[in-house]
Amino acid sequence: MLPDALPPPDVCCLGLAKTFGSGPTATEALRPLDLTFAAGQTTALLGPSGCGKSTLLRLVAGLEAPSAGHVTIGGNSPAQVCARAGLAMAFQDASLLPWRTVRGNIALALTLARQPADPALVERLIALVGLDGFGDRRPAELSGGMRQRVAIARCLAAEPRLLLLDEPFGAVDELTRLRLNFDLPRLWEKRGTTTILVTHSVTEAVLLSDRVLVFSPRPASVVADIAVSLPRPRNRDVMATPAFRDLVDQASAALWAGSLAGPLAAE
Ligand SMILES: Nc1ncnc2c1ncn2[C@@H]1O[C@H](COP(=O)(O)OP(=O)(O)OP(=O)(O)O)[C@@H](O)[C@H]1O
Ligand SMILES: [Mg+2]
Repeated sequence: MLPDALPPPDVCCLGLAKTFGSGPTATEALRPLDLTFAAGQTTALLGPSGCGKSTLLRLVAGLEAPSAGHVTIGGNSPAQVCARAGLAMAFQDASLLPWRTVRGNIALALTLARQPADPALVERLIALVGLDGFGDRRPAELSGGMRQRVAIARCLAAEPRLLLLDEPFGAVDELTRLRLNFDLPRLWEKRGTTTILVTHSVTEAVLLSDRVLVFSPRPASVVADIAVSLPRPRNRDVMATPAFRDLVDQASAALWAGSLAGPLAAE
């Protein structure tokens, strides 16, 4: 376990930009962005496909080098935070090691974080993501949604202070997704984790977050910054309130208005 004294970090992106390639074939994924993600908050990123959401997460994780600007996580560089296992990321495609079992993939996070093997913790995480009885299976024996749930459990294992989730529930069935939407935030709220989550579901964005950022089509710029101050823990009752529906409407309207300014507008 990491020492409890370590607070969750804030994340600052200053003039952060990314262009892939150069010359006529260059793709400007992000144009200079100034963004701060508050310590301990969950922020959901919404935006059309290809607008640069994954690129932003990968820049925060230090998996891509920015073309301009920089990222600090609690005042440190992404590389420094990764070296101390303070950050975990779940990718869109789960990215599990195919030769390791479910149990082995989750336990690997503890090894990489130089934390002691804790079989009981691994079993608790397997149960949390609804995979009881599948601990000995390999990724090829699981459905896409099950693989995504293993990736989420792996992220949570080392108790990172910063959690980056890229469409973590994209392949998960609707019922399990809703259950994870209710259960997982309790875990990261208790730990006070700073969380940045990409999703294509407006409802999920509002349900999980303290703040929703809506992006325009590529190159991404923020078209709406919506504070979500609904009470927690959130459940189905919260989803039925006018306040919840109003936030979903605001985010949907911003997504729609943003798309009218982009390349889809001409279609
Ligand atoms: N490694 C790369 N090399 C070249 N172009 C890339 C690379 N990664 C992303 N891009 C381009 O950058 C743009 C943004 O991609 P990104 O994956 O960040 O979008 P996204 O918002 O996550 O989309 P989606 O919602 O479909 O996952 C796209 O035009 C994509 O083609
Ligand atoms: Mg993406």
